[in-house]
Amino acid sequence: MSQLPVLPAFPVSRMRRLRRTPALRRLAGEVSVRPSDLILPMFVAEGISEPRPITSMPGVVQHSLDSLAKAGIEAVQAGVGGLMLFGVPSGKDATGSGADDPNGILNVGLARLKFELGDATVLMADLCLDEFTEHGHCGVLAADGSVDNDATLQRYASMALAQAEAGADLLGTSGMMDGQVGVVRRALDNVHRSEVGVLAYAPKYASAFYGPFREAVDSSLVGDRLTYQQDPARGVAEALAEVALDVSEGADVVMVKPAMPYLDVLSAVAATSPVPVAAYQVSGEYAMIEAAAERGWIDRDRAIGETLLSIRRAGASMILTYWAVEAAISLR
Ligand code: PBG
Repeated sequence: MSQLPVLPAFPVSRMRRLRRTPALRRLAGEVSVRPSDLILPMFVAEGISEPRPITSMPGVVQHSLDSLAKAGIEAVQAGVGGLMLFGVPSGKDATGSGADDPNGILNVGLARLKFELGDATVLMADLCLDEFTEHGHCGVLAADGSVDNDATLQRYASMALAQAEAGADLLGTSGMMDGQVGVVRRALDNVHRSEVGVLAYAPKYASAFYGPFREAVDSSLVGDRLTYQQDPARGVAEALAEVALDVSEGADVVMVKPAMPYLDVLSAVAATSPVPVAAYQVSGEYAMIEAAAERGWIDRDRAIGETLLSIRRAGASMILTYWAVEAAISLR
């Protein structure tokens, strides 16, 4: 007697039906990434004539002014939605004076990109002192060595004016000082630059995943940023409070950073934010996939695509990623 297959007595839900063919999966897909959702973070270093590789971020470089211009144009041609610029000065001091100097490398780099690209892209600048201070903190220090919130705000206001003057469309307030968005907003409005916007790093955690970035900007930080960046052990309520404050102070976009370890936070922010939400896939998120792929332990391209989808699925409308150009090309 032939063996009959054992069938369940009730109809089984056929979850696999829509997975059967590529065409069915394509039709059923709900989340996608557009090239114009992607923002490329870029580094420009003072006093170099050739791009300098960043060891801990294979494929990412510190640019010279000329290579910055070339790479910026290529990124925009690839379809990315914007560029976020970081400066690497050749000299640092206690107050980070290179940050608001119109001849400082970040402002010169911004002006160069604005000259090359005009309004063809959205030009963003990191508004923080850590790349410019000799101690590597995001603000200026008080006599006791702590980071002085309100003295730092004065420096940020001055940076905002320099960056607006250099051509930035959106200023990325990333220093995690209380009141920074409001101070920057008022400084811009006072000089009738109300069209310049603020992309606020709203929940920003004190994260080990920024490790490779420290090499990228030749950071001189000793210690940590735990007295101003958020504690990973805090919950979603604190993150939402940061967002609410930044929005009330005038943030045009809020950003969650890092991305993958904080998808729960991203999802909560995206569900409630009245302004568009960005997420920053940071240097450590990049480096760990590159490193695993280099060892043959992971399928690099699939892993990159999956991370970008996960960030979109959690609700980000924009993603800062060091893979922006290659992802934009493969998505075209
Ligand atoms: C602050 C800033 C940092 C990053 C972006 N803006 C460093 C920090 O907060 O310690 C990290 C980005 C990355 O890791 O890719 N200027």
